[in-house]
Amino acid sequence: MRLASGHVAVQLEGEELAKIQRDFGGFSKGLVRLTPGRWVLPAPYTKFADKIYNMKFRASDVLIMTYPKCGTTWTQEVVWTMRNNPNLDHPKASIPVKARSPFVDSDMLTHMGKDVHNNELLEMVKDIVPHPDPDEGLALQMTANLPDPRTIKTHLPFSLMTPDLLDTAKVIYVARNPKDVVLSFLHHSRLMKSMSYVGSLEQYVDYFVNDQLIYGPYWEHLREAWPRRDHPNMHFLFYEDMKADPKAELRKLNQFLGTDLTEEQLQKIAHYTSFEEMKKRDEVFYQTRGTKRVNTEVSKKDGGFYRKGEAGSWRGQLTDVQETKIDDWTKVNSLKLDISFRYSV
Ligand code: A3P
Repeated sequence: MRLASGHVAVQLEGEELAKIQRDFGGFSKGLVRLTPGRWVLPAPYTKFADKIYNMKFRASDVLIMTYPKCGTTWTQEVVWTMRNNPNLDHPKASIPVKARSPFVDSDMLTHMGKDVHNNELLEMVKDIVPHPDPDEGLALQMTANLPDPRTIKTHLPFSLMTPDLLDTAKVIYVARNPKDVVLSFLHHSRLMKSMSYVGSLEQYVDYFVNDQLIYGPYWEHLREAWPRRDHPNMHFLFYEDMKADPKAELRKLNQFLGTDLTEEQLQKIAHYTSFEEMKKRDEVFYQTRGTKRVNTEVSKKDGGFYRKGEAGSWRGQLTDVQETKIDDWTKVNSLKLDISFRYSV
């Protein structure tokens, strides 16, 4: 199948698909691989791909683009708060960030499930989308209906978004070191029903370095973003830098976004968006409502979405063999890309 982006999507099949479906209970609808780029995505992506690619951005949009688990939600909350809630008194600030800042490509994840109408977002967005139709993609409708200024999330790389993106909107790309990413993504893949990973850590590291996880290849994602880092509409952010000195990073964002916040406002927002504070608010919200999206036995055993929130927590969790695999893979890929990560702060 040819997509508007020019990519050709081919269904994964045979032994590769069978193995993935044994390890990921959530991928019953299959996966596709795109050429060029070798992007791996859930099969329902093809239903929404052209709509996402042809999406009209506005001059006031900020798009937060990341490979999964690189600090997307944190950055969304920081940016949304800086733009909409500088004094921390917005009446809607306590609803989850996903109901304020749409995840534009999430419809394909919802459509991996059995019942697209049983969608948690449906209830949250009814003020924004008057007649929502989950079959047509709730996240897409939410994005289209959201008033300015929109803070939008995507895990898709540049080549799957409109080519004039940076000419129109601002993009914040967030990157995180691959060792923390793989452990964070492993937990997420076990936690979320849409993926329901049941394999081992060892197998998961193999999926990661073999570029078989959705939204990968990890390095290709970076390779498309890194050369664009000096574009005036682009801001490149590292998770580890935010962790080391959030206020310094908020200051840079203040300049990039033109939000003109005072030092005192930035200080308060840095505290408000800290791991502990965001985790606390999330627990309060879901304690009263519950959620059907997560595997509860995993969240009871290993925690929920807010797992550790650290840079360097991979230490002691990866075996020497697993670490070497990631190091070798990093060495090969870094040759073509002049980027270096901090592996702890
Ligand atoms: P861990 O699994 O390592 O804890 P994303 O939003 O891209 O899915 O990234 C999720 C990762 O960011 C998780 O990492 C999560 O705990 C962490 N995270 C979320 N909010 C954070 C915050 N305010 N400060 C630091 N890390 C945060």
